[in-house]
Amino acid sequence: MRTRWLFALSAAFGLLLAAFAQTPTLTIQAARPAAQASPILYGLMTEEINHSYDGGLYAELIRNRAFMDDRRAPAHWAVVHDAASAARIALDPSRPLDRALPTSLRLEVTQASGAHPAGVANDGYDGIPVRPHTRYRVAFYAKAAPGFTGPVAVSIENGHGRQVYARGEVSGLTTHWRHYRLFLQTGDAAPAAQARFVLALRQPATIWLSLVSLFPPTWRNQPNGFRPDLMQMLVDLKPRFLRFPGGNFLEGNTIAQRFDWKKTIGPLRNRPGHWGPWGYRSTDGMGLLEFLRWAEDLHAQPVLAVYAGYSLRQQHVAPGPALAPFVQDALDEIQYVIGPVTSRWGAARARDGHPKPFPLHYVEIGNEDFFDRSHSYPARFAQFQRAIHARYPQLICISTIGTEHPSGWAAMRQDHPRMLDEHYYEPAHKFLADTAHFDGYPRRGPEIFVGEWASYETSFPPWNPRSKPLPPTPDMLSALADAAWMTGLERNSDIVKMQAYAPMLVNVGRGLRQWRPDLIGYDALHVFGSPSYYAIRMFSRNYGNWILASTLTDPALPVSVTENSRTGEIFIKLVNPQPAAQPLRIRLEGVRRLQPAALAITLSAPPDATNSITRRRNVVPRRAVLNGIQPAFAYTLPADSITVLRLRLRPAPALLNAGSSAPPRRPGAE
Ligand code: AHR
Repeated sequence: MRTRWLFALSAAFGLLLAAFAQTPTLTIQAARPAAQASPILYGLMTEEINHSYDGGLYAELIRNRAFMDDRRAPAHWAVVHDAASAARIALDPSRPLDRALPTSLRLEVTQASGAHPAGVANDGYDGIPVRPHTRYRVAFYAKAAPGFTGPVAVSIENGHGRQVYARGEVSGLTTHWRHYRLFLQTGDAAPAAQARFVLALRQPATIWLSLVSLFPPTWRNQPNGFRPDLMQMLVDLKPRFLRFPGGNFLEGNTIAQRFDWKKTIGPLRNRPGHWGPWGYRSTDGMGLLEFLRWAEDLHAQPVLAVYAGYSLRQQHVAPGPALAPFVQDALDEIQYVIGPVTSRWGAARARDGHPKPFPLHYVEIGNEDFFDRSHSYPARFAQFQRAIHARYPQLICISTIGTEHPSGWAAMRQDHPRMLDEHYYEPAHKFLADTAHFDGYPRRGPEIFVGEWASYETSFPPWNPRSKPLPPTPDMLSALADAAWMTGLERNSDIVKMQAYAPMLVNVGRGLRQWRPDLIGYDALHVFGSPSYYAIRMFSRNYGNWILASTLTDPALPVSVTENSRTGEIFIKLVNPQPAAQPLRIRLEGVRRLQPAALAITLSAPPDATNSITRRRNVVPRRAVLNGIQPAFAYTLPADSITVLRLRLRPAPALLNAGSSAPPRRPGAE
């Protein structure tokens, strides 16, 4: 009996030992950092797609405010009247406000009275959002046929006009264009997303309207500003750079439809807007200066993409004299961004309200020029780079052909670009298996900017029409893959200097999206982050200035470790893409003592779990304090999880190495 007991005991002990021996071990070389981590690794990529700006970040609520979305009819505007009133509306190109805005809206009220007004309503971007106790800024240009001077009643009301949330009026109309401004104030009304904006007359008359605008409160109350809830989501990501204005939006379908920056600055009445490549017209209310201000508000540096002579429908400008005006345009644009106020374009920036130059270090020459079947990019890039370096030798020019396009890169390398923008849209399983993608990149350069990347959960790519009925934002499976991919970006952030998920924004309202998956979704009233948004937020907010080498005995668990040498914090990022919890042993070599209290931030959910406009916080990170942490400790990763462990050296090395920029010396390093 006793022998059987002993046998059972030793068998159990053996099993335990075997299990322990099989427990994967993460060993972190904490004594000597492997390389410096890029201080600008985490950033944002942005363009006008999915109504990112118009109907998105740019807070304007009126859709088709200058009546140019459709040449045949005033899209998104409708007559409002009741049984005892009547009106008609039409585009009127014979009475434009300005050269840039070559049409206006004629409103002819044929029957109306005080009790029965008639007018025109705008339905916004899938509804005008109403919030209680909120002040809206209205502005429009108007003129009237002789004999009518007003008033024009202005209101925000529900879809049937039965509930008026806010009202005001303007008078003093003349037969000439004049600008009218007023505020509308809402009261106690509950938030509503499907309201409309109405301009109405209480007597028969004819008026013309142009540039009709309605802004809710904006981020820091800036005029022509940004939607605060969306800005907050972006600020929370702590981005270090902002790449703009595209993407395809930079190039346009044709050369004429490129992002022509000179037409996007100055007063709104001088901005014609243009047809974008994603199937709708851009107001360009979000123009070059607004992009720069946006970067400034985010405390991020701009990464300016300049049009480089290639547009999506295979139109290109031949390198040489034909390209020279486009090169000059880019030089002017750079001067607008960083030139002194004594320069021509620096002065224009000052006139537009921003005398201080912006901090610019990177200029991207075009976008995805590997699509250019004329193979003219190496020569176009060389022409741009030569001219930019002659005037601004400090700027780094980014090539849009990288090593992920080997034949294009073979032709490109003679131009010696300092940085390459590489794009990766891959299925989730591929990201999970490719976390070592950048491990073998040569350390002498060129440096890498992963300017667009995202995983997708489907067996077909995002541009396949089968993506259309799927949710706009990615699920947890993608978040796991995206986090795994980011561990590879971080571990290689000595050579991968910048990276950004794309696309970033999507309006999930009816008919407003062109692409999935996208990082952040919103409708007129609400905003939500996808699981991938939270994964990126966890990564970018917990990131050091040194990369620590690490080895993990289970290669299926992606990992990255960085250290902040100033605070003595160590950030361990781990991804467990498996459906079972994973025990782990963690050893920090070269460290004698850690603060016993550490922080674990975890995003964990079944692979098909996600967030949506109705379940906005279904998958969000959780924080937990860990106690008793030592240089060797055990930790169990939950199933399907992304984990950041935040440990702290004791004492912080900054206290030992005060004022030194050398790699941190470990307290009690072996
Ligand atoms: O992010 C969506 C599109 O993908 C970008 O506009 C383009 O650069 C890429 O092909």
